[in-house]
Amino acid sequence: MTQAPAHTLPANFEIGIAELDAQHKRLHGLLERLRDAVGKHYGYATTAILDELTIETRIHFAVEESLMRMLSFPDVESHVAEHQSLRDQLEKFRKRAQDFDVAEDLAAFILQWLNDHVDRFDREFVDHFLRAGIDPNAVSGR
Ligand SMILES: [Fe+2]
Ligand SMILES: [Fe+2]
Repeated sequence: MTQAPAHTLPANFEIGIAELDAQHKRLHGLLERLRDAVGKHYGYATTAILDELTIETRIHFAVEESLMRMLSFPDVESHVAEHQSLRDQLEKFRKRAQDFDVAEDLAAFILQWLNDHVDRFDREFVDHFLRAGIDPNAVSGR
């Protein structure tokens, strides 16, 4: 079996808001570590990474959601619902975390969810800000 590279960010992963890009990279790294830990049946590491991921996810979603509300992004509620679906997936993962085969599939699913969400949903609000002539980096303090 070949070892996956430690950190493999997909193309189209950067959305152009420095702070959010940094948070996405952290989440991506944690999800890769989570997938690797369950793949190796490391129970303790899986729990520790999951705890960190839960905190980082909460922070990231709060930042994004308040940014969207401050800048009057019209589709904020559907975006929030997407975030809730990831929270639900993480909760599902937590319940099955020590069932390693199921957990490995779930971790891979969540990692793919993040990639898709960033490229589709997060990019939508950046495009909206740019079309409206708002520089989101100025708002987020960069
Ligand atoms: Fe995001
Ligand atoms: Fe998002």
